[in-house]
Amino acid sequence: MKMNCLFCCMSERQFTRRSSSRQGIKDCIDANNTLSRFDNISYKTDSSRRRFISEEISKLGKGKISAQIFTFRELCVATKNFNPENQLGEGGFGRVYKGHIETTQKVVAVKQLDKNGYQGNREFLVEVMMLSLLHHQNLVNLVGYCADGDQRILVYEYMPNGSLDDHLLDLARTKKKPLDWDTRMKVAAGAARGLEYLHETADPPVVYRDFKASNILLDQEFNPKLSDFGLAKVGPTGGQTHVSTRVMGTYGYCAPEYALTGQLTVKSDVYSFGVVFLEMITGRRVIDTTKPTREQNLVTWVTSESVV
Ligand SMILES: Nc1ncnc2c1ncn2[C@@H]1O[C@H](COP(=O)(O)OP(=O)(O)OP(=O)(O)O)[C@@H](O)[C@H]1O
Ligand SMILES: [Mg+2]
Repeated sequence: MKMNCLFCCMSERQFTRRSSSRQGIKDCIDANNTLSRFDNISYKTDSSRRRFISEEISKLGKGKISAQIFTFRELCVATKNFNPENQLGEGGFGRVYKGHIETTQKVVAVKQLDKNGYQGNREFLVEVMMLSLLHHQNLVNLVGYCADGDQRILVYEYMPNGSLDDHLLDLARTKKKPLDWDTRMKVAAGAARGLEYLHETADPPVVYRDFKASNILLDQEFNPKLSDFGLAKVGPTGGQTHVSTRVMGTYGYCAPEYALTGQLTVKSDVYSFGVVFLEMITGRRVIDTTKPTREQNLVTWVTSESVV
């Protein structure tokens, strides 16, 4: 299991909010601030916890949440009891399974968050809220979620070509053909459009904070969609230059000034885009400890005099 996220405590400061016609995201932001209390709430019973989560999601989403609520039983049926044969992959927060929803005849990807993993109720709710309120052809669709008992499960549209990571960086393991140049550029352009939507169209802007090859999913035609919005955060508004926050993201992709200061701007995502772009043109992973020492960090290596 990968555990390469950065967790570093820094001050979390509230930002001023501006009035906006795009009420949806603003509600999400209000939700973002409210969400911290989910972490510390204890529940008398499973059903009260489940009811509380569903009520908060519908209250914070103000009726705009299109995601379907699934029962655990429905998702057991869809994934054949989370059968290892249905497993599509595994990340730092849990396993992802292919599933089939009988009632809608939809093929889906079901991410069962690890109960002992780092992603808690807050990230789960941020993801449900963000993906319910943000819609773009280069962002993955959230079909629904399940919060039965201890379960925290996200149900996404199924992306037949998996993640960019699978086609770019671990070809010996995945046994995939290297992507041709045109496809690489198509993926880069689509992923950039997804970020542009978050930064320029969403109002207030949203900082994605987890731009990396494994979070860029690919459909049948290799159109890219950004996934994993649990770390997404509302960006600076009302003339503010940054939002101060805990540093979170993935080592190697995280902008150095954000990692050092905790000051987050949309440019932090642009840095991560640059890192992924380097991976796309070199076919090398940003951090690769199997390489000679001076080549282990891709950014340092490509900017060193010997390569330029
Ligand atoms: N919607 C989807 N459709 C098809 N495959 C998916 C989908 N979502 C995830 N996957 C597969 O599951 C794998 C694991 O995804 P996940 O988001 O859990 O972890 P990750 O992004 O690899 O790592 P991390 O947890 O560090 O972000 C992906 O690399 C991809 O192959
Ligand atoms: Mg991911």
